[in-house]
Amino acid sequence: MVATTDEYASRVGADILARGGNAVDAAIATGLALAVVNPEAGNLGGGGFLMVRLADGRVHALDHREKAPIAATRDMYLDQDGNVTDRSVVGHLAAGVPGTVAGLWEAHQRFGSLEWAELVEPSIRLANGFEVTTRLVSTLDAAQNGIRAFAASARVFLPGNEVPRVGDTFSQPDLAAVLRRLRDQGPDDFYRGETAALIAAEMERGGGIITLDDLARYEAVWRDPVSFDYRGHTVYSMPPPSSGGVTMAAIANQVERWDLAALGWNGTDAIHVMAEAFRRAYADRNEYLADPDFVQMPLAELTSREYAETRAATISMERATPSAQVGPGVDEFLDESHTTHYSVVDAEGNAVAVTTSVNSWYGGKVVVEGAGFFLNNTMDDFSAKPGTPNQFGLVQGERNAVASEKRMLSAMSPTIVEDTEGALLLVSGTPGGATIITTVLQTIFNVVDHGMNVVQAVHAPRVHHQHLPDAIMFEHGGLPESTVRALEARGHTVRERDPGPPDAYFTGGMSGDVQLIMVMPDGTLSGWSDPRRGGLAVGYPE
Ligand code: DON
Repeated sequence: MVATTDEYASRVGADILARGGNAVDAAIATGLALAVVNPEAGNLGGGGFLMVRLADGRVHALDHREKAPIAATRDMYLDQDGNVTDRSVVGHLAAGVPGTVAGLWEAHQRFGSLEWAELVEPSIRLANGFEVTTRLVSTLDAAQNGIRAFAASARVFLPGNEVPRVGDTFSQPDLAAVLRRLRDQGPDDFYRGETAALIAAEMERGGGIITLDDLARYEAVWRDPVSFDYRGHTVYSMPPPSSGGVTMAAIANQVERWDLAALGWNGTDAIHVMAEAFRRAYADRNEYLADPDFVQMPLAELTSREYAETRAATISMERATPSAQVGPGVDEFLDESHTTHYSVVDAEGNAVAVTTSVNSWYGGKVVVEGAGFFLNNTMDDFSAKPGTPNQFGLVQGERNAVASEKRMLSAMSPTIVEDTEGALLLVSGTPGGATIITTVLQTIFNVVDHGMNVVQAVHAPRVHHQHLPDAIMFEHGGLPESTVRALEARGHTVRERDPGPPDAYFTGGMSGDVQLIMVMPDGTLSGWSDPRRGGLAVGYPE
């Protein structure tokens, strides 16, 4: 079964499974298809994280996050007066060195079973032309002004200077050529060949700083997954430079002190407990977490039950603790220096969860001329100026400052959950910037604590708190007025999620786009794609 945000991509993955490919093969083909049909988030010009749990229970985590270019400097996004500019969000300087191609190739080298070329072929067919769907129209429509600012981007994605219409055939000949070279030459073309030259030329034209050297030096890295126990279930997720696994562990360890089921799904007490745990865990996340190749982090402490006890001990059931009174909590810690998601499970029980991103929709809105794909704006995930919020409102610290060849902290959390017997239960993940962690975790709570099925667990409205801003955010229509008032009476600020500017990823006040697969007690698979953005889970055989 394959669950993605886009029907074309889900069908590509299911077809690879039908031909005998394993879950990793299907994930690779699906990821490449998303780069064609879902250019707002699927990508060649971005990066991500891949979690795989093999049928024998071994779990591996692959970091193919973007890196800061060699020439990046700490203050590169500040103006002369030290104020943050929009250059980490829009344009050529916003792009980190892309990791997706290296990541998918590395996953294939280690775990693939079909030929690489067979996995690239479906996306070449899609790049030659596919029928435009409402989802592409709606995101292009929202982002068109940003895209129009870059002529090469507009030429490809706004043919005739207009958003394509539903039913039109949309062809991407430059991208098809890149994919053919990827099929024939593997990552060599992207990182050292013709596509690398196109990226470097685009950078020179637009004042960016990614060089041929940056591309040639990029490598995906296998990392040790974070795992933690939640009510007898083992949860595996991404370690730094993702903040997902560590922050989920810190929240789950605190929340476990309460019987969430007894508090009732989204009852006032349940939301209060979750929000207070979110607040404390994000305070630590924002302060301590960053690229493990650059900073030391108190990971063992942050994920320990003892530490969670001390954090949770300050939670009062009567009153919200103002975030101003909740600092990072680790004592005497000294260090030396200072999105789309897809889930796949195959017939053998191998499971893959991938979250991948160009950060904002259509990244920094820059298409590489002659290559037809968008570059990311993931440099904005660094603290452009420590202590000031980024585009997700995250106030992050010194450890996540920009530095040459560093990876920026992420919230992306591809996650795999085992049941109390150690068997595969859930494969999950979502986009959503800072809300990714709380979204993935609420899906797990919905299943483990509240006994929901996949459809309920994905549909259920979600809440979010990230320490700063000091507010519980909820989705449009997601909380009854009485619950909002009860939470306010405890001292919480409670806000409906802002739909945001038209080109932001916050669509209509919704949060996330979960792609969830659940293994049922009889071994069959149940999958559901979040209706918030309109994807599809496709099983094989259908
Ligand atoms: O890595 C991160 O945390 C962000 N770049 C994720 C961005 C995101 O989820 C945007 N999604 N819709």
